[in-house]
Amino acid sequence: MRAKPIVSSLLLITFLVVLLTGIALWISPRGVGKHTITQVHTIIGFLMSALIIAHFWLNYRIFIGEIRNIKQ
Ligand code: HEM
Repeated sequence: MRAKPIVSSLLLITFLVVLLTGIALWISPRGVGKHTITQVHTIIGFLMSALIIAHFWLNYRIFIGEIRNIKQ
C-alpha cells in the first residue's frame, strides 16, 4: 500500500476537523461542551502537524523541483 495517498487524505480530513473545531472555539461561549471541542481540536491539531511533516517528507523532491523551476 502506498503511503502518499493515505497521508494526503488524512491530512485533508484532519485539516477540516481542526478548521471547524477552531471556528467553533472562536464563536462558542465558555461551557462544558467547549472543553470537549478544545480536546478534539488539540489532539487532532497535533496529529495534523505530524501529518504535515510526513507529507513534506514524502513530497520534498517534487517541492525542491518546483522551487528550482522558479528561477527559469
Ligand atoms: C486551521 C487551523 C487552526 C485554527 C483555525 C485554530 C483556531 C483556534 C482557536 C480559535 C482557538 C481558541 C483560542 C482561544 O480561545 O484563546 C485555538 C486554540 C488552540 N489551538 Fe488551534 N487552530 C488551528 C490549528 C491548530 C493546530 C494545528 C494545533 C496543534 C498543533 C492547535 C492547537 C491549539 C491549542 C493547544 C489551543 C488552546 C486550547 C486551550 O484553550 O487549551 N491549533 N485554536
